[in-house]
Amino acid sequence: MEKHIVENTTASPPDTRIVLGITGSIAAYKAAEMVRLWVKAGVTVDVVMTEAACRFISPLTLQALSGRPVWTEMWQGAQDRMSHISLSRGAQAIVVAPATADFLARTVQGRADDLLSVLCLAREGSLFVAPAMNRQMWTHPATQRNVAQLRADGVITLGPDAGELACGETGEGRMLSPEAIVAAVSAHLVEGKTFGRLLAGRRVLLTAGPTFEAIDPVRGLTNRSSGKMGFALAQAAAQAGAEVTLVAGPVTLPTPSGVTRVNVVSAQEMANAVFARIDRADIFIGVAAVADYALAAPADQKLKKETNETLTLTLRPTIDILAELAQRAPRVFRVGFAAESQNIAAQGEAKRQRKNLPLLIANRAQDAINADDNEVILLDDNGAHPLPRMDKSLLARRLVEEIARRLSR
Ligand code: C5P
Repeated sequence: MEKHIVENTTASPPDTRIVLGITGSIAAYKAAEMVRLWVKAGVTVDVVMTEAACRFISPLTLQALSGRPVWTEMWQGAQDRMSHISLSRGAQAIVVAPATADFLARTVQGRADDLLSVLCLAREGSLFVAPAMNRQMWTHPATQRNVAQLRADGVITLGPDAGELACGETGEGRMLSPEAIVAAVSAHLVEGKTFGRLLAGRRVLLTAGPTFEAIDPVRGLTNRSSGKMGFALAQAAAQAGAEVTLVAGPVTLPTPSGVTRVNVVSAQEMANAVFARIDRADIFIGVAAVADYALAAPADQKLKKETNETLTLTLRPTIDILAELAQRAPRVFRVGFAAESQNIAAQGEAKRQRKNLPLLIANRAQDAINADDNEVILLDDNGAHPLPRMDKSLLARRLVEEIARRLSR
């Protein structure tokens, strides 16, 4: 079963040209199938290979399939044109598939010491990367840090998938199938023409991440939330042309480019930050996992474990930011999120009614927390609309489209 299929289509806008970058991974052989699918769909593909990629698959194969010269060196064709710039000029996208751990690290640094990395720097279109590597390389903190930074820089990551790996191990790190990559890129190119203007002139305020409610100076109550979904949404809203302010609880994610970030810790601080800015907003999206209770009286000094007796904490309910906005700012288009562990649609709909929201996005808590992909159900006055499982950055763009469509009604 393919985990990441986004749209069952390879249709791209007419006159589409893309650059396919291939780096040195065993998954390089799958690039041949991608070229075939794109060419069949009428897309022009310029293939650029790193030196290591040429050890895994012959440039001749890709030349035959694309019907165009394959680029392997920085100075190739230097006599007639600046190949390193002209190849990416006018290309709607650069798709690096497979993308090795080394390529991701180099792109984070903005290196420009081979043709493919130069093209990634000097580009006009979107950059997609489809990572492929051993599971330990993928889950290594350095790779995860690099992927988070790439996403914040606007790079779109496709996969990886989990399954059998070329090294004989099983786990996450497998490149997505050629069909899934081609479909995801095509879906982007089709919508990309209009996406950048979807929220032009709109001001979006979001909350993301957990809150932290102090028990004493060193301990606290919090919720499990990585902030990934909220940060991806902030980024997508900015890419759609909105002016975006992100009120973030304690997470270490990089701030998406073009987004104004306000860091808060507690639910009360988050509420204050939102209420102080809501008058300037057209859209509010509450993605944060706000604590429902805070200590009635946090201790000024660290609590000591003096006996083996039980300790009772007195909690008071926090303010429900989203519900409060229905009273304070009814003209703002309010969107909520709900992570439920069972009866997702029914529980979500009840929450939507209770908080008086035009749109609520419900998901299974067990699946969504900390994951890179998510499967959600949209709930509005017309009922429940499930979406297929997809990467959070793709899902964020889809949700921005859904919000923009409802706003324009
Ligand atoms: O915690 P709950 O499941 O009710 O969260 C549903 C929605 O309400 C989320 O969008 C969350 O960000 C928002 N919320 C809020 N303030 C709270 C609790 C939840 O804005 N105190």
